[in-house]
Amino acid sequence: MSTTENRAEFGSTLGFILSAAGSAVGLGNIWKFPGKAYACGGGAFLIIYLIIVAVVGTSVMMAEFTIGRKTHKNAVGAIRELNAKWSWVGGLGILTGFIILCYYCQVGGWAMYYIVGYITDVQTVWADPMAYFLGMLGANGFPLAALIWGLVFLFLTAFIISHGTAGIEKMSTILMPILFILLIGLMIRACTLPGADEGLGYMLHVDFSTINTTAILTALGQAFFSLSLGMGVMITYASYLSSDDNLVSNTAIVCTLDTLVALFAGFMIIPAVFATGIAPGMGGGFAFATLAGVFMAIPGGQFVGMLFYFLLFFAAITSSTSILEGTVSFLVEEKGMERKKTLVMVSIVLYIVGVLYTLSQAYMNIPGYWISINGIEVTIFGNMLEYLTDRLLLPLGAFLTTFFVGWIWGTNNSIDEATGYGRNKFALAKPYAFIVKYIDPIAIGAIIIAGMVFGMSIS
Ligand code: PFF
Repeated sequence: MSTTENRAEFGSTLGFILSAAGSAVGLGNIWKFPGKAYACGGGAFLIIYLIIVAVVGTSVMMAEFTIGRKTHKNAVGAIRELNAKWSWVGGLGILTGFIILCYYCQVGGWAMYYIVGYITDVQTVWADPMAYFLGMLGANGFPLAALIWGLVFLFLTAFIISHGTAGIEKMSTILMPILFILLIGLMIRACTLPGADEGLGYMLHVDFSTINTTAILTALGQAFFSLSLGMGVMITYASYLSSDDNLVSNTAIVCTLDTLVALFAGFMIIPAVFATGIAPGMGGGFAFATLAGVFMAIPGGQFVGMLFYFLLFFAAITSSTSILEGTVSFLVEEKGMERKKTLVMVSIVLYIVGVLYTLSQAYMNIPGYWISINGIEVTIFGNMLEYLTDRLLLPLGAFLTTFFVGWIWGTNNSIDEATGYGRNKFALAKPYAFIVKYIDPIAIGAIIIAGMVFGMSIS
């Protein structure tokens, strides 16, 4: 996507798919998803997740794509153009993105810390993987290294946004397929480790008694987070599409790619948890501590580990830039602020909250440092930020988006846009209209309320 002209268009469909998939595939797939699948009962959670992606995820993505391409505007401007009274929905999305970014950049920094760890001191990483992970988070004192790497990650994100994203989009063409192949290879290795079959069994055994409102809400929030939905990022991306692009196939491809990466990561990490006995609880070291056991069991594991964290870092930065672009373009286009100044100011606030997040991760391992809200243990700037975005703000954003498309803008307008005014086929147009109008708002609304009423017991 060229950012030199106003409202440029993607050079090719591939460019769009790579950017949208680049935004979708990130820490959410590899760091968050396996932890949630593990905590929420394995197989049954996977089924719920897949159903949610297939029904709710695809329809919300299509809704966002059609709003964006119809108006060729950022999230707030786009919704305002369709109905001025609803532009605040876009604003809510910007706020959600901002909160996500506070901790996202910190975890992106963890990936960089691990790249360096694998290059310079792999023996220490492998000697006691959990101690290494907790050490990074400050178990032995102040988490200085994690905070510095968080700053570096944030700086790189801001730097890319100020210099244009064309470079990383080109790199995506090569690095994303490598990530995909590496994950498949690591998944196969993890599943063949001695003791891994118990983990595989855990992921494949479907026991619906593990599913409660919390698990469903977790799956829902995870799906939105993973697919980059509910905060207008996909509206913004689609605003750069030309009318020739096929939104139907793009939706299918992005959702499928993102979900495959999450599944690969799940089937890589959970069997490894069982095989290695490294099961990080709070603090979420799934993509960090647990995987050491897999890399140790591979010839050239040091190099493979380094490559893995480099690709994780890359996947994270193609996501973090997509969020920061949304925040900054909103402040510049809607509030008339100057771009460079905005970028600096936003980054400073992001970093301050991010520091509190990382500090909270360290405290989370100290019993008594967290408070219990509604049955879950939270630290205000730690997992509270994640709960707020994943369990409330993202579902709320998606709820409002589908309600807006279903009842305010109208499903016929959305379908016209989806088919390029009759140029492309959209075999599922009728089910799409029904889902956006009824299923999505009712199901998402009910789950948000149920989560609040019944409490949440699984982290
Ligand atoms: N989808 C990204 C991930 O899974 O890591 C995170 C993300 C990006 C969330 C963009 C939301 C968003 F708008």
